[in-house]
Amino acid sequence: PPVSILGVPTDVGAGHRGARMGPEALRIAGLAEALQARGVDVVDRGNVDGPPNPWLPPVEGYRHLDQVVAWNRALMDASAAELRAGRMPVVLGGDHSLAIGSIAAVANHCRAQRRKLRVLWLDAHSDFNTSRVTPSGNIHGMPVACLCGIGPDALTGIGGHVPAITPDQVKQIGIRSVDQEEKRLVKEHGFDIFDMRFIDEVGMKRVMEQALDGLDADTHLHVSFDVDFLDPGIAPGTGTTVPGGVNYREAQLVMEMIADSGRMGSLDVVEVSPALDDRNVTAELAVDLVESLFGKSTLMRD
Ligand code: ARG
Ligand code: MN
Ligand code: MN
Ligand code: MN
Repeated sequence: PPVSILGVPTDVGAGHRGARMGPEALRIAGLAEALQARGVDVVDRGNVDGPPNPWLPPVEGYRHLDQVVAWNRALMDASAAELRAGRMPVVLGGDHSLAIGSIAAVANHCRAQRRKLRVLWLDAHSDFNTSRVTPSGNIHGMPVACLCGIGPDALTGIGGHVPAITPDQVKQIGIRSVDQEEKRLVKEHGFDIFDMRFIDEVGMKRVMEQALDGLDADTHLHVSFDVDFLDPGIAPGTGTTVPGGVNYREAQLVMEMIADSGRMGSLDVVEVSPALDDRNVTAELAVDLVESLFGKSTLMRD
C-alpha cells in the first residue's frame, strides 16, 4: 500500500532529551527517497504537533504524563486517518512511548475491519513497566503494559477500547534489559519473548519463523522498531543502549523475513537520538533496514 510518513518530534517519554530530533535525522538519511527508489508511493506528512518537553522529575511514578497523553492522542488521530485512507503509517519517533498512540490506532482499525493484529516489538527492552515498579518514571519504559491495559486510564483508554491489545498478540525480539519487577509482570502476562540468549542459542532464522508463525492473509502486522534493538557498536545514537544487541546480518534477516511475510501494515522507527550519534550512522542504518522491510534483499536467488 502507499506509505505516509508521520514525524513525532518529542522525547517527553524518555529520560534523556534528543529523540525529538529523530524524525529530521531519518529524513536527512533519505528515508522517503529510499522508499521512492523502491517504487513505493510515499508522502511525507511532516510532523504531528504536541507540547514542549518540560524536563521535570516524575510525579507519582510518571514523568510528563499529560504531555505523553497529548502527543499520543495527536499521533493516534493522524495515524487513524492514514489507515482509514488505506495508507500505511510509518511513524518516525520520538521516544517509544509513542507506540501507545500508534498501536492504539492500528488496533482500532483492525477491530473495525475484523482483521487480526500481531505486534512485533524489536527492542532491547520489554517496555512493560508500571508506575509502581518503574526505576525511572519514564513512560517509554511502559508502552507495552499500557497497551495491554496496565497503566494510567488516560493511556490505557486512549483508543476507547481497554485493553487495546492482548499479550498473545505481542512477540518481542532482541530483549536483554528487563527490570526486576518488570520481569515478574512480563512472566505473569506471558507474551512470547525471544531474548538475546534465545537468539544466540537458536539463531535468528528460527526465531523469526516462530515470531511470524500463523500469520495469514487476514493479519495486520505492526512492527515497532526501537533502534536500541541493534548492538550499540552499529547503532550508538540512542539514549538507552544495552551491549550485546542484534548485529547487522541478524537485523537484515529480521527485516527481510518480515518483508517476505508480506503482512506489514504499519511501522514505528523510534528512539533515534542524533546528538548521541556518530555522523548520523544510526539513522542511516535504520533507513537501510527500513528498505529491507520494504523488500530490498541481499538474496541472489530471487
Ligand atoms: N526499563 C527502563 C525504564 O523503564 C528503560 C526503558 C527504555 N525504553 C526505551 N523505549 N528505550 O526506564
Ligand atoms: Mn523501547
Ligand atoms: Mn529500548
Ligand atoms: Mn537493506
